[in-house]
This record gives sequence, structure tokens and C-alpha cells, in this order.
Amino acid sequence: MINTPMQKQILFVDDESLVLQGLQRMLSNMRKEWSMRFASSGAEALALMAQAPADVIVSDMRMPEMNGAELLNEVMQHYPGTVRIILSGYADEDLVLRCVGGTHQYLSKPCDGETLRSTIRRAIDMDVWLENDNLKTLVSGMTKVPSLPSLYFEILKELRSPEAALDKVGATITKDPAMTAKMLQMVNSAFFGLSRRLTDPTEAVLQLGMETIKSLVLTIHVFSEFESSAELRGQTEAVYNHSLATALWARRIAQLERRDKRMVEESFTGGLLHDIGRLALAANAPGEYAQALALSRKESLPLAEAERAIFKASHAEVGGYLLGLWGLPISLVETAVFHHCPGKSQAREFSAITAVHAANVLEQERRKDLPAALLPQLDLRHLEQAGVGDRVPVWRSAMEVQA
Ligand SMILES: [Fe+2]
Ligand SMILES: [Fe+2]
Repeated sequence: MINTPMQKQILFVDDESLVLQGLQRMLSNMRKEWSMRFASSGAEALALMAQAPADVIVSDMRMPEMNGAELLNEVMQHYPGTVRIILSGYADEDLVLRCVGGTHQYLSKPCDGETLRSTIRRAIDMDVWLENDNLKTLVSGMTKVPSLPSLYFEILKELRSPEAALDKVGATITKDPAMTAKMLQMVNSAFFGLSRRLTDPTEAVLQLGMETIKSLVLTIHVFSEFESSAELRGQTEAVYNHSLATALWARRIAQLERRDKRMVEESFTGGLLHDIGRLALAANAPGEYAQALALSRKESLPLAEAERAIFKASHAEVGGYLLGLWGLPISLVETAVFHHCPGKSQAREFSAITAVHAANVLEQERRKDLPAALLPQLDLRHLEQAGVGDRVPVWRSAMEVQA
């Protein structure tokens, strides 16, 4: 096999030779960009990895001897920089979703060529784009990384079906009692300002819309997985409240700027997940994270800078990288990465990045629990460029009115 230096190494693992042949055929047009290898067992895959580690590994779940989750856990330990993807049948979903940590992303079988190509390509692009080896090693080695909830996939499936119905999504949520309880608690909290108490998820879907519900399911799940770690209990709640408030303000700001529905929704979801990197860092390296917090307080450094001093990456990049590994849309990845510095993104116009950036700053300003030196600052140049330089007082007063 002759590799050109630019070629990325992709390794596919499946115990059925027909599946491997199918993949080979399906992806034959990628041969210039990718150097692809195929293994029929976990042991063979590990032998190939020892010869030359792959940039991305895509493994079947159900295999005799070593199953996909076991294989990917091995890969995580020895080759933390490799992106790990499971390609699994529907019946394996429960099994797959339980093996948190070793796997970055799940694709369900049968998977069409385009989905597979774009998933792998995105994982590779993100590497180039975030260009930080520390970050890659840091995130790839994290064991406490929640997987995406199966309920999220079910809702996505429902949304994709031609007869997607609000009541069906509501019924799907009801199947998970813990999620139902948390969701109702959330939508009935003061944050949403609804005029009456909702008692049924279907009603919540009707009131808030499917996109919002989808983001809430994702957020509730991710936060509750992090909450289970003892070190994090206090922090999770603070980040959760801040994220929810930021999401609502970001949505409000996008509405005030009369942006289309999609951008309004993106601002909301982006706000919910923008600080997820804080929890990921704290869950995986509690000692170092405590150091970063202490450093920030002692030196009056913004948190992101203190994190960079300790981890060589901040929660913004870590969060963005995680969202990317989960296969969430690139706009959400960007919102997380650039929420402190929107001027560094490619976006020159008003976007969800702008809305989340401003909401994050204004929300912390309003809470008054941080010393002035630690408050994040508005990127006025970006706001000017985006044509909203004079709108900050309007956003501030909208927050005053609603508070
Ligand atoms: Fe942040
Ligand atoms: Fe934040």
C-alpha cells in the first residue's frame, strides 16, 4: 500500500467479509484522499494499528471474541488520538449506548455511503480545523464523555419521518420517565416564563416546538450523565443554570434581530451547549480543573485563560471538539469554540455565534456573582462588523424587562 503524506488512514472492522466488501465498493471514490484498511476481527485491527495507527477507526459492534466496544476501548487506551466510530445494528443500540467513553460516534446500519463519507470527513476536518494536538489528545483520552441518548436518536428518526407528528414525539419522550420528569421540571421553571404549568410532554412539544425539545433532551441527558460524578455536583448545577439562561437570552437576541427561525433555534441550542467543555474538563481531570479555577481567582484571569495555562486548551475548544465528535452540526461546534471570541471565527455577519457570545456575557454581567476582572468582555469589533454594534443597550433592556 502506497500512502501519500496527505492521505488520512481509515480502518474498518467487521467480521462479515460481505460487509467489508460493500464498504470497499461504497467508498472506492475516496481512495485518493484516504488510505483505507479492512480488518475482520478486533485482533487483526489491533495488529494493523500497531503497524500504523489510523486517524479514524470504524468498527462493527457485534463480533465474536472481541466486540466493537471492547476494541474501541483498547484503541482509546493505546491510540488516544484516533477518532472512534461504531457502526451498529438497531438491535445493538442498548448495548452500544451503555459503553460510554470508548466511542465518539454511533452510526446505525445500514448506513449509506454519503452518511459514512461525510461523518468520517467531518471527523478529519475538525482535526485540521482545530489544529491543536494537545486538544486532540486531551479529548480523545477522556473516559467520562457522555454518549448521545438513544431518545435523541428516536426523536431524530421521528422528525425525519414524512408524517412527523408532535404527539408522537411527546409519546416517545414519555417512554423515558426520568427524562419526562426532568423535562417538565425544566419547562415549568421560571426560565421559560410559561403562563401555566405543563404536565404532559406532548403539551411541552406543542408549546416549545420540536427543535427546542430536541435540544432539551440532548442537554438534559448530557448534564445528568456528568452530574453522576461526585466531584462535579456543585459545578453541574451552576453551569446548567447559566447555560439555560444563556440559551434563552441568545434566542431572544436572535429574535430581536429578526433572524429566521433556524438561526433562532441554533442560538438556543448553541447557548445550551456552549460551556459543555467546562464539565468535560472537570469530570475527566478534577484535580487540574480545581487548579485552573484557583489560578483564575488568584490571578484574576478569565477562566478560559487559566484553563489554557493548565490544559493548553480552553473549555471552549474542548466543548466544540466534543460536539463535533458527536456529529452535531458544525454551526453548533463553532458556537462553542468561538463563544468568547466570535471575531476569530469565519463569520462576519450576525449568526448564532454572535447571539450566544452576547448572551453569555450579558447573562454573567447580570448575575453579579463574578468579580469585575473575571467577567467576559463583549467583542465589540465583531458586533460592529456584524452590524449590531449599537444594539447592546436594546438587548440589555430586554433582559431587564424580563428579569
Ligand atoms: Fe464559556
Ligand atoms: Fe458561558
